[in-house]
Amino acid sequence: MPPARSPAAGLRRRKAFIPLLLLLPMILIILFLISPLRSIPAVSNAALRPQQTCDYAAGGWVPDASADSQLRYDHTCKEIFKGWNCVANGKRNGRALLRWRWKPTGCELLPRLDPHQFLERHRNTNIGFVGDSLNRNMFASLVCMLRGVSGEVCKWRPAGADRGFTFLRYNLTLSYHRTNLLVRYGRWSASPDGGPLESLGYKQGYRVDVDIPDQTWADATSFHDVLIFNTGHWWWAPSKFDPIQSPMVFFEKGMPIIPPLLPPEGLDLALKHVVTFVNKAIRPNGIKFFRTQSPRHFEGGDWNEGGSCQREQPLSSKEVKEFFSVDNNSTNTEVRVVNQHLMKALEQSTFRVLNVTHMSEFRADAHPSTTGGKKHDDCMHWCLPGPTDTWNDLLAANLAATERGLD
Ligand SMILES: *[C@@H]1O[C@H](CO)[C@@H](O)[C@H](O)[C@H]1NC(C)=O
Ligand SMILES: *[C@@H]1O[C@H](CO)[C@@H](O)[C@H](O)[C@H]1NC(C)=O
Ligand SMILES: *[C@@H]1O[C@H](CO)[C@@H](O)[C@H](O)[C@H]1NC(C)=O
Ligand SMILES: *[C@@H]1O[C@H](CO)[C@@H](O)[C@H](O)[C@H]1NC(C)=O
Repeated sequence: MPPARSPAAGLRRRKAFIPLLLLLPMILIILFLISPLRSIPAVSNAALRPQQTCDYAAGGWVPDASADSQLRYDHTCKEIFKGWNCVANGKRNGRALLRWRWKPTGCELLPRLDPHQFLERHRNTNIGFVGDSLNRNMFASLVCMLRGVSGEVCKWRPAGADRGFTFLRYNLTLSYHRTNLLVRYGRWSASPDGGPLESLGYKQGYRVDVDIPDQTWADATSFHDVLIFNTGHWWWAPSKFDPIQSPMVFFEKGMPIIPPLLPPEGLDLALKHVVTFVNKAIRPNGIKFFRTQSPRHFEGGDWNEGGSCQREQPLSSKEVKEFFSVDNNSTNTEVRVVNQHLMKALEQSTFRVLNVTHMSEFRADAHPSTTGGKKHDDCMHWCLPGPTDTWNDLLAANLAATERGLD
């Protein structure tokens, strides 16, 4: 594993360069010893005990009655998309859902992202979120946390971004790049002249070019120092692209793949190309994360079958098991299935895994639900403030562990 670090930290540390060089072999050995193959472990709260690693992905939520008197930002943050603003929209437990902290098994509470420290640590840094609306949800959370302590921002759209901000006093840029499948897709219909898909009876669908990164983020890879990718299970689930009416048809090198692939196979291939592309295009010291799937919590039917999420407490461990066990074939199980594809694609790569799935599986209480402003309940996005603040805590802890590794 190459020692990753933020270029900003590199600039600040130039004077310490020579002692650092001498330390490097030792650090590499330590890093090797503490890192399992798949994901970088976050170092425990105690910076002085890097040998005590902590798996932040596993654990439980513990009540913290004081948490909502120390709001990290409130409903007035302009970056909160209207439907996710549970407090402003009058969701009954809009504030109560903040009274929980994530406690990784056998460790102290996951430390909260300290916005001052985050801004300071990531001076002259560009951080990009690349993915669907769940990554926008996470982006909005980070923007709101940082704006709370540093309001001087310039709003702009760097490198194909949908939205972005530079925190002027720190020259830290955050942006969100909208993409659903990560790769390019668009409507496809049969040509009157025929072709391999036409001869198999395909009439219309969605063309997915597995080897062409979506143009909304293709330039982001060389612009950002830190990237956080996701692609939602939603997009790869059969319900989104009807396999009969509008199947996904996969293309590679501009040609249809024959025999046609099923969505999970297409996903594997798209992920493979994305990993290769990012590895080539990323800046030399760039850090790349892949965020795991964000679970949905529809009960009593799927989103279009009147399913809802009315709970006001996180699920118990037992309930989480029932909701998400792959064997149970329930409404929301696809997260774990898509995660398996993700892990396979990332296995041999230097992507770090930001594993938010399990911690989020508990939070059936924290979706906009009936206050999302849609015809159906929103049991997919998250209230802001809400659980995606904790995803950012995890991100900050991971980035901080990297820096400590080089200290
Ligand atoms: C995420 O963490 C949970 C809890 O430890 C684990 O069960 C799951 O396999 C992890 N998922 C991935 C994709 O690493
Ligand atoms: C701001 O940060 C970028 C790198 O992210 C750097 O290229 C640029 O020179 C910085 N600007 C200033 C004024 O330091
Ligand atoms: C499957 O899920 C349903 C609720 O969604 C639950 O009632 C049932 O007990 C679960 N079964 C198992 C085997 O977990
Ligand atoms: C899983 O559930 C869906 C409907 O929700 C059904 O169409 C499918 O046949 C089920 N699969 C299995 C293996 O039970």
